[in-house]
Formats: sequence, C-alpha cells, structure tokens
Amino acid sequence: MRLAVNIDHIATIREARKADEPDPVAAAVLCELAGAQGITVHLRSDRRHIQDRDVELLRKTATTHLNVEMAATSEMVRIAQTIKPHRVTLVPERRDELTTEGGLDVALHAGNIDSVVKQLLEANIDVSIFVDPDLEQIRTCHKIGTPKIEINTGKYADSWNARGRWQAEIEKVSLAARAAKKLGLGVFAGHGLTYRNIDAIAWIAEIEELNIGHSIIARAALVGLDKAVREMVELMRNPRRLPGK
Ligand code: PXP
Repeated sequence: MRLAVNIDHIATIREARKADEPDPVAAAVLCELAGAQGITVHLRSDRRHIQDRDVELLRKTATTHLNVEMAATSEMVRIAQTIKPHRVTLVPERRDELTTEGGLDVALHAGNIDSVVKQLLEANIDVSIFVDPDLEQIRTCHKIGTPKIEINTGKYADSWNARGRWQAEIEKVSLAARAAKKLGLGVFAGHGLTYRNIDAIAWIAEIEELNIGHSIIARAALVGLDKAVREMVELMRNPRRLPGK
C-alpha cells in the first residue's frame, strides 16, 4: 500500500500571511525523500491554500506522482488539460466547507462527471473519483469509465475517533474496496486517517494507496515532516493488530 501525502496545509500556513513560505514544492521534496510515493494537492475554486503556481511547479518537480483533487468544473478541466498532472481526483466542493465533506454523488451527477472523465482521459491524465463506500456509487463509477476510485474513509475515521461503531464503518470500506477491485477499478482511500486509526484501513489488501493530509502535517509541525512521513509509512507497512483479530 502506497502513501500519498496531501500537502494542502503547507500552503494553508503560507496563505495565512500571504507570504512565500513555507513552499509546498519544498515540502513535496521532503515527503518523497521520507518515503511518500505520491503527492496530493487540492486546487480549490477559491484558492484558499494551493495556488495554480504550486500545481505547475509540482508537476515539474515531483519525482513520484502528482495527484490533483478538483471539482468537476470547466475551469478545473482547462487547468488540468494545460498542466497535465499524473492524476486528477474529482471531488465535491462547497464554498463554506472546512474540508471535503463527503464523496461525490456520481449517481446524481453522472452526465457531467461522465463528460469530465472523458476529457481528462483524452488528455492522458489518470482519473480517480472520490466516493463514499456505497456499492451503487461504485457501480456508477465503473459505468462512467473512471479507471480509479478513492473511497471516503471519513465516516470510519469519525466513528473511530468518537469510539463509536467503527467496525461497521470499516466493513463498508472493506466491502466497497472488494467490489471496486472486482469491477477492475484501481482502489485508493482517504480522509480523516491518523496515526491512531490507520491500522484497520492498512489491513485492507485491495486498497493500493492512501491519501493522508491533516494528521501528517499536524505531526510535522511538532516533530518535522521527515519523521512524520516515515512514521506513517512504517505504520502502513506494519499495521498493528486490531482488537479481536
Ligand atoms: N482525499 C480527499 C479526496 C480529500 O479531499 C482529502 C482532504 O483534502 C484527503 C483525502 C485527505 O484528508 P485528510 O486531510 O483528512 O487526511
């Protein structure tokens, strides 16, 4: 299972002062040196953290792969066609949200998403869609022709953090991953994952890659980015045993 680090929060610190540091490009280099196998950024319509300049430079400097999360809008498609990141992940976006709040409702917006996926694939960009662990959504993704999906682990993470019924949520993620793999889709996952709740996800063999941002950058603020990334890579490689397993 590969780790892709979402470095949006590095840009969030920079934008807090509208300054030129810290630079997400430098952060990406450190993440890769520490063992990350992908770099993820979310180019939001409001540009609250990552800027177009970051995506352009990261496309030239990332030595692993660059995954750009974006809304399925014509503005974002144009940018992707120009910069050509290795992968685009389509996500829903609301102006007043703190972070992505749920998976994209592919079943509801199939027409528009279908057209965006086609345009991106025609530009030779790999495509993934961020969806909830819901079998109808996954079947629709397959019909639309996206090669990859990213399963939203947000509900699992929330229930784990609240000491709730996380086993039921992990089961949904696991079933979704298995179904997607059976349909021939590449399977990624992410959202809300931390050093504490990573294990149950890391045991799911069908998941090829995790996108993790907040928890890694939060730890990096205290112990440094190199150590924070290495610790997550190690946990993913050797997940701890789960209670009852
Ligand atoms: N995957 C997607 C699609 C996201 O939008 C985000 C947050 O930007 C993440 C993964 C990473 O989530 P977190 O910052 O909670 O690790």
